[in-house]
Amino acid sequence: MDLPMNNQIDWQEILHECKSNIQTAIKPCFKTLKESQSNLGMGAGGDQMKPVDLAAETAIVETLKEQDLSFTLISEESGIKMIGDQPKECYVTVDPIDGTTNLVHGLPFYASSIAVSGKPELAYVFAGMVVDLPHNVEYTACKGIGAFRNGEKIHTSEIGSLDDAVVGLDMNTYRAKAAISKVTSLILNTKHIRHFGANALEVCYVADGLTDAFVDLRGKIRTTDVAAAFLILKEAGGIVSNPNDEQLNVKLDPAQKLSFIASANLQIHKKTVSLVMP
Ligand code: IPD
Ligand code: CA
Repeated sequence: MDLPMNNQIDWQEILHECKSNIQTAIKPCFKTLKESQSNLGMGAGGDQMKPVDLAAETAIVETLKEQDLSFTLISEESGIKMIGDQPKECYVTVDPIDGTTNLVHGLPFYASSIAVSGKPELAYVFAGMVVDLPHNVEYTACKGIGAFRNGEKIHTSEIGSLDDAVVGLDMNTYRAKAAISKVTSLILNTKHIRHFGANALEVCYVADGLTDAFVDLRGKIRTTDVAAAFLILKEAGGIVSNPNDEQLNVKLDPAQKLSFIASANLQIHKKTVSLVMP
């Protein structure tokens, strides 16, 4: 797979390097997983930061610094930080660990997410990577070039019926009452509903044809979690919209939250949207 060079920057190589360094950096954290995990304070995204979140973020930032890159870091943990002489040339949006709860419980479903953009907006993301850390699977994409799983091109599924489809649905919220009413019709009309607990990776599952849609209408997910996965999905032939079936036009910022429907194809997207339309 060839990601383009941006100002002579080989993002493919750098993202791959980030992956290796994250894997090495978080290894020591697994030794203490049985002990209670210290909270390192509130991350910029509003959740308690765990040692493993910080270890992964440090690995990403150090890898980028080693390349002498100037960039603005937009991270779910440290927030917004300017690095280098020309930080406005490039924006790197990061969720160091998506699925931290799974990780600390020993559930093998969590990922790291990195999106690279020319402006701090979703529409300007041009390269991205989501790494399924426990299975060592690297999802990458580059605008206009395609989406890849460990370097092999991927495509979304063609399933168009909710009887056959596997649909991810995030209902993980204390405000379940409000969220349930939005998705009741979808649940009643879908045979196979799932939620694994790391939304970046779940959107990549749609991209990879493993599932057929993923719906999160809680208004709670941050752009840092899904920026890379949305590019991967679109490059794999999928569709992502807001609940009104409009384009998602949002800022890349740890405080920016959204609701979305991610689908493998137009048929399943239209069905899903029609069942959740506000
Ligand atoms: C979480 C996961 C989870 C979703 C939560 C997110 P985090 O990400 O994506 O599936 O239900 O809302 O916060 O906090 O582990 O980065
Ligand atoms: Ca996270």
